[in-house]
Amino acid sequence: MDILRKIQDHREKEEELKWEGTFSEYLELLRERPYLAQSAHSRVYNMIKSAGVEEDHDHKKFKFFDEDIYGLDEAMEKLVEEYFHPAARRLDVRKRILLLMGPVSGGKSTLVNLLKRGLERYSHTDEGAVFAIKGCPMHEDPLHLIPQHLRKEFQDDYGIRVEGSLSPLNTMRVEKEYDGRIEDVLVERIFFSEDKRTGIGTFSPSDPKSQDIADLTGSIDFSTIAQYGSESDPRAYRFDGELNKANRGVMEFQEMLKCDEKFLWHLLSLTQEGNFKAGRFALISADELIIAHTNEAEYKSFIANKKNEALHSRMIVMPVPYNLKVSQEERIYEKMIRESDIRDVHIAPHTLKVAAMFTILTRLKESKKASIDVLKKMRLYDGEILEGFSDVDVEELKKEHSDEGMSGIDPRYVINRISSTIIKKELTSINALDVLRSLKDGLSSHASISKEDQERYLDFISLARKEYDEIAKKEVQKAFVYSYEESAVTLMDNYLDNVEAYCNKAKLRDPLTGEELNPDERLMRSIEEQIGVSENAKKAFREEILIRISAYARKGKKFDYQSHERLREAIQKKLFADLKDVVKITTSTKTPDEQQLKKINEVVATLVDEHGYNSSSANDLLKYVGSLLNR
Ligand SMILES: Nc1ncnc2c1ncn2[C@@H]1O[C@H](COP(=O)(O)OP(=O)(O)OP(=O)(O)O)[C@@H](O)[C@H]1O
Ligand SMILES: [Mg+2]
Repeated sequence: MDILRKIQDHREKEEELKWEGTFSEYLELLRERPYLAQSAHSRVYNMIKSAGVEEDHDHKKFKFFDEDIYGLDEAMEKLVEEYFHPAARRLDVRKRILLLMGPVSGGKSTLVNLLKRGLERYSHTDEGAVFAIKGCPMHEDPLHLIPQHLRKEFQDDYGIRVEGSLSPLNTMRVEKEYDGRIEDVLVERIFFSEDKRTGIGTFSPSDPKSQDIADLTGSIDFSTIAQYGSESDPRAYRFDGELNKANRGVMEFQEMLKCDEKFLWHLLSLTQEGNFKAGRFALISADELIIAHTNEAEYKSFIANKKNEALHSRMIVMPVPYNLKVSQEERIYEKMIRESDIRDVHIAPHTLKVAAMFTILTRLKESKKASIDVLKKMRLYDGEILEGFSDVDVEELKKEHSDEGMSGIDPRYVINRISSTIIKKELTSINALDVLRSLKDGLSSHASISKEDQERYLDFISLARKEYDEIAKKEVQKAFVYSYEESAVTLMDNYLDNVEAYCNKAKLRDPLTGEELNPDERLMRSIEEQIGVSENAKKAFREEILIRISAYARKGKKFDYQSHERLREAIQKKLFADLKDVVKITTSTKTPDEQQLKKINEVVATLVDEHGYNSSSANDLLKYVGSLLNR
């Protein structure tokens, strides 16, 4: 089977990548590839950079986030340029905990996961390779083996600065296993893996009474104390806390501010001094990126507490706001649906877009500029070009409210409403109206929406609904025009007959009654007016067409609806203008006649073949548009 092959491939590749050697051999490696000794922060930064950076004007777009985080380019740029970049250069921010602050379901966990999975992959590449003292539960940096007094010399020679001291466990191992011969200490390449607890850790707070600091820093292994004779023998200690395991990589601190204080104090020393205390040992050096996340309310109550000042000053807070672009919000829903159990349900075109419009509206703050209402703002943010507004205006709009995107409806609510509607009503297909209704019905039971906001949100539902009405009408007209090829031809033939009679000062014959008729001036003008042919210019225009027809005839070519650019445009425009009535009549009659039925079936077929509907959603659309046009 394919998947088994792939698993085997993966294993073989990892086997190939393996490296083991003595510390002196490792030093040789470093001569050629000094970057192997980079810090955890630097590795994360280089990983992000290696996925590619697009620069335009004064913004950088980091492609690393592309596959999973949508619409947060600016927040990601800030995160990289204000935290990861300086941290990689060993500046002070590295010593702070990175605290992601943002509203619920705004992608904080997704972001952290992206970094974790990225690091796992990156540690399998040449640039991202990581080496550690073999057999060390904390995968300690081999360079810690270099005695403090020689580090200056080492730096002069290799250009690498060594930070942190050898852990108590490895100090003892060097003595006991290697007889003090540092150069012989075995070094191996390691691969980050959250499952194997290598270089990636996660800590989530549970009941503070039962949660033990050992979860973070490891604990005494009582079963081995007898063997080693003392609690302070590092071999009797299990270095298996999350902080130990995450060494060299990244540690996620979930819901950090919900955590008991005693846990936080450990982090203080770790981040500030780069080491933490475990059991009865000297401080243990660690090199890891600590990422925590929290929401705004929790954060505010945290900083309001004076006791937390020290901790607060050791954090870098980075906002992760909601996305504010309709098109990106749509992508978020698509992704969430792909990952859910409703992925097989037919979702009519524009359904998610309309839901996204509502959601984005709830997140936007009103502009101070009178000329910009929320709908305009929504469009401008999504990159639409509106007359009278430039990029500069958009930048200014974004600066008006610093907390925009920190509140409003979250994507999970939308997906939950969609799936509960589908499941409850056993739908096999869902459209924008179903979704808006369901979003509306859910508002009153949404825990964190105030009465005031509810009122506002109801208005947004109607706004989104109006937007949908326009979209639906256009969609149906488009499909009608498409299946109107034949009417276009008829209209054209009709026009040409009249033009011919007009130019030759002749009469036309009614095909049914045989009666003689004057050329139909009204019909001709109604077409010509579509492309601005004036009363004075009509004669010349008609003659020109007639000349063209005879030129075609001489060459034995048929003059048809496509042959004359301006005439074709005029015909199409005329059809389109007439269409409104046709659509109105065709879609709203309860008992369509044969002709109308045929037309309806053609339009349904076009919607299905060309525009992504299925027959049920296409029929619903027609019915809805019919009712709209008859209002
Ligand atoms: N900007 C975004 N880009 C891509 N996906 C997003 C975005 N915002 C939210 N999501 C999606 O919404 C869902 C919730 O996101 P996630 O769990 O990462 O949020 P969170 O901020 O950690 O929320 P919580 O505060 O509830 O823990 C996920 O399925 C995620 O993929
Ligand atoms: Mg989360």
